[in-house]
Amino acid sequence: MTWFYDPRRTYEDNYAHGPFGAFAAAPVDAPPRPARASFLGHPVVSPFGIPAGPLVNAAFCEAAFRNGFDVNVYKTVRTSAHPSHAYPNVLAVHVEGRLAPGRAAPVLADGALDDATSISNSFGVPSRDPDAWQPDMAAAVAAAGDGQLLVGSFQGTHPAPGAPDRESAYIADHVAAAALVVETGVPVLEMNLSCPNEGTGALLCFDGPLVARISAAVKERVGDVPLVLKLAYFGDDAALAGLVDATAGIVDGYAAVNTLPARLVDAAGRPALPGAGRDVAGVCGDGIRWAGLDMVGRLARLRETAARDFAIVGVGGVLTSAHAAAYRAAGADAVMSATGAMIDPGLGAAVRG
Ligand SMILES: Cc1cc2nc3c(=O)[nH]c(=O)nc-3n(C[C@H](O)[C@H](O)[C@H](O)COP(=O)(O)O)c2cc1C
Repeated sequence: MTWFYDPRRTYEDNYAHGPFGAFAAAPVDAPPRPARASFLGHPVVSPFGIPAGPLVNAAFCEAAFRNGFDVNVYKTVRTSAHPSHAYPNVLAVHVEGRLAPGRAAPVLADGALDDATSISNSFGVPSRDPDAWQPDMAAAVAAAGDGQLLVGSFQGTHPAPGAPDRESAYIADHVAAAALVVETGVPVLEMNLSCPNEGTGALLCFDGPLVARISAAVKERVGDVPLVLKLAYFGDDAALAGLVDATAGIVDGYAAVNTLPARLVDAAGRPALPGAGRDVAGVCGDGIRWAGLDMVGRLARLRETAARDFAIVGVGGVLTSAHAAAYRAAGADAVMSATGAMIDPGLGAAVRG
């Protein structure tokens, strides 16, 4: 089966020629569906779709909407152009059961994608220049039908080492990115705080006070547009509670979970991906479903105990509609699948039922 984002092609080839396979085929003449749910104030046919990543531009987003995925995220953008890591970016990953959190465990990765249910991704968050992605994101917003929603994902870029007042510049870059995304007309924003392929430094989501400062600055700029924070897996309950305490009064929701970092090796134990700084990469799919469900359950408890009303987006290892239902039962208001949707482009229609 050809995946709509085809890992056997480069990122640029996918961007220029995708989507591929059945996902890209001519539309089935399906009758319009009534909205049966709402997400962050917007009516949706089904609160299910594809998270930031595989939908690299408007052509992919348009196909996702057409295939019955109703809440979709345009891949994370930045305030300036940023190249993708070298090919390959997505490898099949062999995980026995659950992928352990942490970077220590080596994971066997190879190119045999046909039967894969867990994969790596190592892109380094590539972005076009805003002059290119803004009109394209606006086209993706316009591709949403009735009861469908496009979410715009963005992240800040660290200023160069030695630049003056690096923290202020880092905050300002988030604000600038959010403002550029809002100009495209997106109804919901998602701020990526959790990319494990962005160098070896600590992830932004683990610095609650800084996330609160950034979120407040972004919200001040974007006004009423809902803001969701995309989180990594938190091993520590107190750290997650601290982040929620610091930000729940500012933002409108949390999406969990991003990929889990793992040390990818080939059959000989050597790093599976070429180039410096890529020995650890994000793993997603079947092996991380436990982590997404765990995060959603903990966020739902934090919401309930403090009588808060933020939204929760459940992500990670959703390969079937039963997995999506498990996320809803754990407390997710919306559910998304990246790996599962790539494997089965009929997943959106199956979840709609
Ligand atoms: C090809 C690919 C690219 C991704 N790129 C991004 C990204 O740009 N921003 C982001 O927040 N998450 C990104 N992700 C992570 C997904 O949004 C999601 O959190 C993760 O894949 C877990 O979901 P899954 O198990 O359904 O794949 C990417 C995932 C994949 C598979």
